[in-house]
Amino acid sequence: MLPYFPFDQQFNNKMGTSFLLETDPLIEVDELQYLSEIALKHQLLSDLPTYYFQSLPGYETAQWDVVDLVLHDLVRFSPNQFSLDQIGDRWQWINRLLNEETTFTFGDATTLPLAPLDWIGRQVQEDLILLAGPESRLVAGQLCFANDWCLDEKLGLPFWQIHAPITPIVEPMMRAAQTLMERLPIGRSVWRANWSVKISNQLDMTCRHAQTLRQLLTDRLPAMTPSTIGEELYVRIERQTLTRLPRSGAVLFGIHTYQNLLANEAADPDRARCMAAVFSTTPPAMLAYKSMTDFLPLLLTYLRNQMALNPIIL
Ligand code: HEM
Repeated sequence: MLPYFPFDQQFNNKMGTSFLLETDPLIEVDELQYLSEIALKHQLLSDLPTYYFQSLPGYETAQWDVVDLVLHDLVRFSPNQFSLDQIGDRWQWINRLLNEETTFTFGDATTLPLAPLDWIGRQVQEDLILLAGPESRLVAGQLCFANDWCLDEKLGLPFWQIHAPITPIVEPMMRAAQTLMERLPIGRSVWRANWSVKISNQLDMTCRHAQTLRQLLTDRLPAMTPSTIGEELYVRIERQTLTRLPRSGAVLFGIHTYQNLLANEAADPDRARCMAAVFSTTPPAMLAYKSMTDFLPLLLTYLRNQMALNPIIL
């Protein structure tokens, strides 16, 4: 089952953000998927390095901020898997899951094999994005598992422009999010969960796959029925975190993607009921944005059948 399930009584037009608790990790290590997802990142970054990692010049301090934050979070929450020894600026990092050891001088990029953000991104399953300046521009990122966007499209854009396609649909939410970006204090991370329903469970849904995925949906739609749809669609959840970084003042946006076959989630009658309640109240423009319009009637019939098979006993 998905570890996060942001479905309840109806479509939520609020940001859905909460402060992370002291006891909550910023970075989540999902050990079942860790090795395969890190291997996939390596593969993508080796095939198309400048597609999956980009940085504008002048944001090295922010990249080191991320190294500092992420390594300390990993050792704090997974001390058996990771360790960090610091003697002055000389840091020794051990990642036992990858069987890797790295020694470097903190703040000196020549001592790491890759740019600091590119290196740290390969230690974690999260995509890592940096936003900086008064307009919260996207200034750097390692983005391998994006849901329908890519760095080529968004690098250098301010927060409001990044969201231009959806702002008319959820304008109050995006205005609140803009204010949050401006006022987020150092040391208090926030998180939210985002959802979508997809035709594939491939993690890398960056723009270069958009055409193929659209075609896959078009090809499969005619044969889809309420009795097959549960096995054909996937629920995709992003755990998103936002953290103001102490040295640079930039904001780290972390995205951990989880997905599960729809049938596995809808086997739980409460989950089927909540998904039906949310999908049936989502504004049509948002459903269209999420490419759900064509299969929505089938999806709702399927979810209602699941609820009927497993009625709540009052
Ligand atoms: C509290 C903060 C945020 C909120 C409430 C928010 C909300 C949303 C919503 C509602 C969508 C529509 C997609 C969907 O619901 O599946 C979206 C899409 C998106 N968000 Fe955010 N977001 C936030 C932060 C960020 C940040 C920091 C970035 C940094 C890059 C970002 C990048 C994007 C991108 C690239 C898209 C896709 C836009 C497109 O289709 O071109 N979001 N966001």
